[in-house]
Amino acid sequence: MDFPLFHLDFMGNRMLVALIAIIHVIINHALAVGFIPLVTFLEFRGYQKKQRNAEKGEAWDEVARKLLFFAFIITTTIGALTGVGIWFATSLANPASIGSLIRVFYFAWFSEWIVFVLEVIFIMIYYLTWKKSKQSARNKKRHIIFGFWLSVFSFLTMAIIVGILGFMMDPGSWEAQKTLASGFFNPLYFPQLIFRTPVAMMMAGCVALLYTAFMLKKGNPWRPEILKHISFWILLWMPIAAVGAYTYYWYIPRAMIGNLPVALATQQFQSWYDSLLIVMIVSVAVGFFISILGTLAPKRLPKYLLIIPVLVSFMFLGTFERLREFIRKPYVIGEYMYANGILVEEYPLYQQSGLLKHTPYSSISAITEENKLEAGEAVFNIACTRCHTTHGINSVVVNFEKMYGNQDTLSTDAMKAYMKNMHNVRYYMPPFPGNDAELDALAAYIAEQQKRPQQLEGAQIKGVDVKELDY
Ligand code: HEC
Repeated sequence: MDFPLFHLDFMGNRMLVALIAIIHVIINHALAVGFIPLVTFLEFRGYQKKQRNAEKGEAWDEVARKLLFFAFIITTTIGALTGVGIWFATSLANPASIGSLIRVFYFAWFSEWIVFVLEVIFIMIYYLTWKKSKQSARNKKRHIIFGFWLSVFSFLTMAIIVGILGFMMDPGSWEAQKTLASGFFNPLYFPQLIFRTPVAMMMAGCVALLYTAFMLKKGNPWRPEILKHISFWILLWMPIAAVGAYTYYWYIPRAMIGNLPVALATQQFQSWYDSLLIVMIVSVAVGFFISILGTLAPKRLPKYLLIIPVLVSFMFLGTFERLREFIRKPYVIGEYMYANGILVEEYPLYQQSGLLKHTPYSSISAITEENKLEAGEAVFNIACTRCHTTHGINSVVVNFEKMYGNQDTLSTDAMKAYMKNMHNVRYYMPPFPGNDAELDALAAYIAEQQKRPQQLEGAQIKGVDVKELDY
């Protein structure tokens, strides 16, 4: 409400943010955080092997270089673009929450940018100096050490962001202390880091395994041993990931765990929760089986099958991020700010004197019979559009129709009664933030949307009006 509201009425803002963020996090974890250490490790093994067998050492080195080339291209293009894209998309979709986060994490924000730029530059240097590093053993050693430091840097980009992500779920003692350190080292910080790190390593292994299996011809004498090393790498991180997952799950506030079934499968498919869990367990088992096979009998690894662990790990991480985002609802910052961008402590004021009066970006202050529908639209924008659309994904009209039967015209009284109480029935939704006149206008707007569907335009199309606030 303190900012103009960007809105995409067909897909919803959440979907836009989710798409960009999930692509980014997959690339970051699989091709940077986990991949750089794996490449460095393979380069190091090549260096060791070269002492005894020059040809073999060279073959290992080439595989490591080609893997890095692949990661280099993707991370510095799609990875970097989606990374910047997240900040644009989230600051349009929920400026109030990004604003709050910047206040708390000012220095983390700033350092993240520096670390990110340095990471991209270092990846370039690491790749571009590879050929030169082959010239002497001394060069090679230096190059490997550089790879090690680059791995540390990639890890740091993740380690900073995790502080902010954990904070959004559970700010912990920050509520009382209000310091950067208390917010950053929140109760979920280490559990989430312990989980994400081995997951990134495993994902990198899955991608590298697939890529190497296709890159090296079946007859290549070094192929089995390289595949074996990568499979073993995956296997090695697996128990750590399991411990991480358990620790993380344990630290998630219990109230959020209650949100899991809806988070995983949306309300309509809530009963699928159990079957989805089984699908996930089976997928992990398939990954486990493939890495065991690769470790024990790399020659038998069917290369087309290797696509499965890659897809599964991407799906797994995507689902994990979606869940993490969902289960902290109704908050965008735990107990502090609701997902609609309104502070918990400001609720009493708005519920008494009304939202619109305090919203500079709506021309309406007082609701009359004439401006009721327009007021309803403004209230819908503030209170519901961070999660709902009118007729697109998670449409508010369809949601109400499902509740009351879609043959009938929606009853404004029934909707009003529901909305007054919605946070008690569906605890992932924030309470209605406005006063009674605004509730009435909102119900009228939704009923009108059912009768005469109309796209709701966000500020990016409609333009930005500013009114003087009158206190
Ligand atoms: C924090 C995000 C969020 C906000 C804000 C929000 N909702 Fe929801 N709402 C949801 C989600 C998620 C669902 C479940 C959708 C599903 O399972 O398909 C839902 C479901 C609903 C349902 C169906 C509930 C049921 O019992 O089946 C209605 C009606 C609804 N919302 C109305 C509203 C209205 C009106 C507003 C604004 C005053 C609003 N919501 C604000 C996230 C939100």
